[in-house]
Amino acid sequence: MAMRITPSVLNADLSNLSGEIARIPSADGVHLDVMDNHFVPNMTFGLPVVESIRQRTEAFLDIHLMIANADRWAPAYAEAGAESITFHVEASDAPIRTAREIRAQGARASMALKPATPIEPYADMLGELDMVLLMTVEPGFGGQKVLDLVLPKIRRTRELVKTTGQDIWLQVDGGVSLETIERCAEAGADTFVAGSAVYSAGDPDQMVRDLRERAVEACRH
Ligand code: DX5
Ligand code: ZN
Repeated sequence: MAMRITPSVLNADLSNLSGEIARIPSADGVHLDVMDNHFVPNMTFGLPVVESIRQRTEAFLDIHLMIANADRWAPAYAEAGAESITFHVEASDAPIRTAREIRAQGARASMALKPATPIEPYADMLGELDMVLLMTVEPGFGGQKVLDLVLPKIRRTRELVKTTGQDIWLQVDGGVSLETIERCAEAGADTFVAGSAVYSAGDPDQMVRDLRERAVEACRH
């Protein structure tokens, strides 16, 4: 199974985003955390900043919308040229319509679940998605510890994804590091967000390669 590392720039130098993205050429994409201080108690940046980043980099842009009213805003990020748009199901009244609107713009549609949100109610709509993001921390801040109680949900989601017969990526976000990536990979994740682990490393690009190698190793067992 291909293992993808999509570092989050949340804890990088936010005044120099394109420079920070250029430091991780080995990454499979860059994870951009959009926060509105409503859906989560923190605020980062929005559409104009993502549009500017799009002008500056060819990198695969993996947008994680932690915003209320996701249905209203998600398609605009696809229109801005981002390759993947993730909206939270807890912030969406019409997840199927929103996923279809994202795909209609040519982007990958992805849906995120907070740690306490079960996957089972959404089993029948997985075919509408290109990725499922399972949060391994409560969203809002970098530098938190993985909640191991999410591991069984990663396993159940992997089983549900298998039944679709489609190549739906399974991403985890929050607390991913050299210490924790193995158990997430063993449980069935194939796409990993790592923020502080990558940007606090002396050589962020080497950390990306080390994380990927460890995930690949974990899956061989
Ligand atoms: C948290 C964000 C994450 C965060 C991850 O709500 O969605 O993407 O940046 O940071 P670390 O890897 O430090 O937990
Ligand atoms: Zn995120």
